[in-house]
Amino acid sequence: MTAPLRIAVAGLGTVGMGTIEILRANSQILARRAQRPFEVVAVSARDRGRDRGADISNFCWYDDPVKMAAEVECDVVIELIGGSGDIAKNVCKNAIAKGRHIVTANKALLALHGTELAKSSESAGVAFCYEAAVAGGIPVIKTLRESLASNSVSRIQGILNGTCNYILSGMEREGKDFLSVLKDAQKLGFAEIDPTFDIKGIDAAHKITLLSSLAFDIPIKFSQTYTEGIDKIELDDFRFASEFGYKIKLLGIAERKQDSYEQRVHPCLVREDSEVAKVDNELNAVVINDEIVGKTVLIGPGAGGKPTGAAIVADLLDLKRGNLNSPLGESILSSKKIKNINIALHICKNHAPKNKQITRCREPSKGMVIDNTLAIDPFGYRFYIFNISFFIT
Ligand code: HSE
Repeated sequence: MTAPLRIAVAGLGTVGMGTIEILRANSQILARRAQRPFEVVAVSARDRGRDRGADISNFCWYDDPVKMAAEVECDVVIELIGGSGDIAKNVCKNAIAKGRHIVTANKALLALHGTELAKSSESAGVAFCYEAAVAGGIPVIKTLRESLASNSVSRIQGILNGTCNYILSGMEREGKDFLSVLKDAQKLGFAEIDPTFDIKGIDAAHKITLLSSLAFDIPIKFSQTYTEGIDKIELDDFRFASEFGYKIKLLGIAERKQDSYEQRVHPCLVREDSEVAKVDNELNAVVINDEIVGKTVLIGPGAGGKPTGAAIVADLLDLKRGNLNSPLGESILSSKKIKNINIALHICKNHAPKNKQITRCREPSKGMVIDNTLAIDPFGYRFYIFNISFFIT
């Protein structure tokens, strides 16, 4: 059999350990599919002594992941440190400089530095794979970049943050307030100890920015993604939404307009019978509209060690199969992607709350923004005040 694919893992949190467990448990299937074994040759994490629930003493240990990426003899570095800071970035840069492939789950790094990293990996002839960065176990990157590649995508919308979906589902179902459900989510391990990026919509904004770039062949422009979280939603909002036949979901939306693109994340009212309305708790969902297939709906776990680890391992198999796609779909070195395409900052400019302004309508309709003050029915049957503005989709 061919020599093993040598793997170095930077970051041994939930996803790192999930990945190592899949590599261990499925070693025979993977070796058969890849026609060579997968071998973890080195690991790096912050705390060597922490109990991780599995034996990692066989792997060569590095305290410094940046040094590991530069020094260790391997074929691929899996970057699972997270964040857009220098450590994760330098792990990738060092690995690329040494001609090693990168597999990562780091959406923040890609949203802020993805274009630069895609360029250098393409120039170096190494792969930069990130299926695990968006919606965990849902194969949305491969779906957009490969399965729908013949096609022109017009719109993507999705539930891209499991923490927010868990909190919104819990508030609606159990009638508990935002902070109580957030605490439940933290106890169950869905929400981070510092959940700011989740509840402020930043994590979902990283993800929709990446999907938008892939779908529309435009540069990764995180600064042009309108971002609003769920922390101002109150229990009354669910009651009012339900009376009109809506549920509340935090959606990431990317849409092709005539001469520009929208990228936005904010709470939406979605019809109770829509696909995304039925996706509750920590699950994620992505709905892709295109000109040939029509509508593709993907639903699954968007986080967690095993689902996200499965996406990492699928990327490792791609490497073996020689499936070295340009990271952003088409070549960043030769395509329009390097031009500065004007992305509309936020189409919903009127989305901002207009205090005290009363919008009168008999029933909310698609595409309309309900302000935080809303009067339903001009004949005075009902009058509701939502706590924030909602876009109806
Ligand atoms: N904090 C993220 C979520 C994890 O809740 O969806 C996966 O990116």
